[in-house]
Amino acid sequence: MTAFPRLMVEGHTQFKGKPFQMASFRSWIVYMSHEFHEDFRKARDDTFSFKEEVNEVAAIEYTIGRVASHDPWHYGVVRKQMTQNLGSKFPEIFEEISLAFGDELALPDNGEWKPIWASNLSTRVVCRASNRLFVGLPLCRNEEFMKISQGYTITVVMSGYLISVFPEFLKPLAARYLSAAPAATRAFEKFILPIIEERLGQEAKLGKAWEESKPFDFLQWMIDAATEEQKDPKELNQRLLNMNFAAMHTSAMSYTHALYWLAARPEFVAPLREEVELVVKEHGWTKDAVNAMYKVDSFLKETLRINPITANSMPRKIVRDVRLSDGTQLRAGTHVAINSWSVHRDPVLYPNPDEFDPFRFSRKVEEGENPVRYAFATASSDFLLWGGGEHVCAGRFFASQELKTMLAYTVLNYDVKMPVEGVRPADRWYGEGCVPDSKASVLFRKRRD
Ligand code: HEM
Repeated sequence: MTAFPRLMVEGHTQFKGKPFQMASFRSWIVYMSHEFHEDFRKARDDTFSFKEEVNEVAAIEYTIGRVASHDPWHYGVVRKQMTQNLGSKFPEIFEEISLAFGDELALPDNGEWKPIWASNLSTRVVCRASNRLFVGLPLCRNEEFMKISQGYTITVVMSGYLISVFPEFLKPLAARYLSAAPAATRAFEKFILPIIEERLGQEAKLGKAWEESKPFDFLQWMIDAATEEQKDPKELNQRLLNMNFAAMHTSAMSYTHALYWLAARPEFVAPLREEVELVVKEHGWTKDAVNAMYKVDSFLKETLRINPITANSMPRKIVRDVRLSDGTQLRAGTHVAINSWSVHRDPVLYPNPDEFDPFRFSRKVEEGENPVRYAFATASSDFLLWGGGEHVCAGRFFASQELKTMLAYTVLNYDVKMPVEGVRPADRWYGEGCVPDSKASVLFRKRRD
């Protein structure tokens, strides 16, 4: 086990599930077991502040900008308009995923295996699919635009860490001279501002007629939800970039993790294929079909339980003194998070917790349990991938649908295996963050049987 997860397990065992402190390079962090989930879930930003925490870790105010850190009203558009329209947008997202796989893999017809750089494939397919929903065609396929979109998360994370080591009064200066984020924002503006201006112009010119002809994508839902003041194109551009930040590498890493399992453990392909074939035969490629793919859902959930994005969940900064449900006192200024690594490996919640058992959740559904309780997209005290409470991931229904479609499309159309059969590339840990091997290749060929 690598350093960070080992420390989480040791802390959990040594302190018998009670809160314990560990130093990060920035501050001490108090880690808690899932017994405290309700304290976190019910807490509001005036006590357990998400905003303060992410601002301190990633200097969001200076990277993504004030709109994301101070007035993220567009998260409401993700929760409402975007989530409600996932069914009607499904045909476009499916089309983009299937075309992107075809373009990226470019497999020969002779049935030969071809090595494919897994993390590049994941990022490019996710980038096209997400931006098909965010801004539509043709921009989602524009190479220069994709490059900015894909690189943005890394730029923000690196710049954020860099800025966060400076004292408060020097941060604006550090942001100005040392951060690559402003240049990335300007590069994105080059594509997005003309589109926003064109749309606002059409709205002013056509009035009612625009209502019937306007695009139907995340950018337009944001424009429609914005007040006159909020329609500032540069601000809308920042909000769109913020979405690219939230959606891109989280989903791409998740698919890469799942692909490595699929390629390393071919015995799981047949049951997945059988399920996908059955539901697609019944529903066609629709949201209903994807909803009915319990094994695909379970495979992804188990992947992210075993190979998470981070070993902690719901990081918050305590902004006024608080007493928790068990009497623990936390002083203002304390950094806290749930030790999700230990929750996800708790043998009471997950029998044989270290085993990759991809159908452990779909078996529950087959046994008659409520599918929602065990679904990949469901955030709970047992499954902390999506965080929880007030800031629970707003895009989780889209992320789940996108990833399920990508995995189902893969098993239906391709054979995959690892270059060294059965060997899954090891994850890399950066502090609490877990990243799938970013250099490894997976062998693909057109499906044979
Ligand atoms: C597998 C992919 C993803 C993972 C693992 C993930 C995970 C998370 C986590 C852990 C949080 C913070 C929750 C908390 O601390 O309580 C979060 C917040 C958020 N996520 Fe995701 N996310 C994913 C994909 C997406 C996508 C595709 C979108 C948008 C399309 C998105 C939009 C957001 C937004 C807007 C927030 C902030 C919510 C708020 O503060 O109210 N995420 N996500």
